[in-house]
Amino acid sequence: MYKINEINKAMLLYGDSFEEMKKIPDASIDLILCDPPYNLAEYSTGNMKFDWRAEINNDVAKWDLVPFSPEKLLKDFTRIIKPSGNIFIFTSYNLIGKYHEVFDSVFDTFQFMVWHKTNPVPNIRKSSFLNSCELIVCMWNKGHTWNFSKQNEMHNFIETPICMGNERLKNPKHPTQKPLAVLEHIIKIASNENDVIFDPFMGVASTGHAALNLNRKFIGVEIEEKYYNASIERLEIFNENDNRSNKQKCINY
Ligand SMILES: C[S@@+](CC[C@H](N)C(=O)[O-])C[C@H]1O[C@@H](n2cnc3c(N)ncnc32)[C@H](O)[C@@H]1O
Repeated sequence: MYKINEINKAMLLYGDSFEEMKKIPDASIDLILCDPPYNLAEYSTGNMKFDWRAEINNDVAKWDLVPFSPEKLLKDFTRIIKPSGNIFIFTSYNLIGKYHEVFDSVFDTFQFMVWHKTNPVPNIRKSSFLNSCELIVCMWNKGHTWNFSKQNEMHNFIETPICMGNERLKNPKHPTQKPLAVLEHIIKIASNENDVIFDPFMGVASTGHAALNLNRKFIGVEIEEKYYNASIERLEIFNENDNRSNKQKCINY
């Protein structure tokens, strides 16, 4: 079992989160904030090709070719979350009903948020809606951590641009890097300083970056080596003393 109390700032794990989660002790996590696969493979129509411009990336990512069901998260998420904890999960329209089916009866409250992207990918063919909204399901039990003062801070809606500019990693570029503004908003309302935030599908550690910016601790797992390495590099700015051991398996900043 990992010794969560010994984490200084962050522990980054390279591997399959369904294996790594088994090593996280019961009731040790304050907030699970994650962005798992969307199970979109069957809806893919491939990249859009044009004679007059570069093709537009409309294909699914590699990890979305592996079938994923929210049920796979149930056992470990309910085991590792503290009674005062919160769970926020980015998802897509095709899975929201599944999340409700699996989690609604297990928690006192099941709700959702909408993240509206002010600059979504354009629909050149003008044949459908722009894909400008993402859904985030959220759940908790009575007595959960909740920080807000005014009702108008608590709309289940947040509007920001997609991740871009200096914040967007260039090498490797992650196709679904989430903006810090959205993650920090959730972390602020759903956790306290020094709490442990867990992201089992961390990509390039956006949740980790947001958590450390806000003086929380972070545990992240990533299965693709290039994203795992990019995560280490990204969080290096928080590393005060560069005396890491066992670098490839586990980084304890
Ligand atoms: C939707 S992306 C998350 C992106 C992340 N929110 C960010 O801002 O960088 C999902 C990530 O989960 C990773 N992944 C998929 N299955 C996994 C597994 N079983 N264990 C660990 N990571 C996994 C993928 O490689 C991908 O980077």
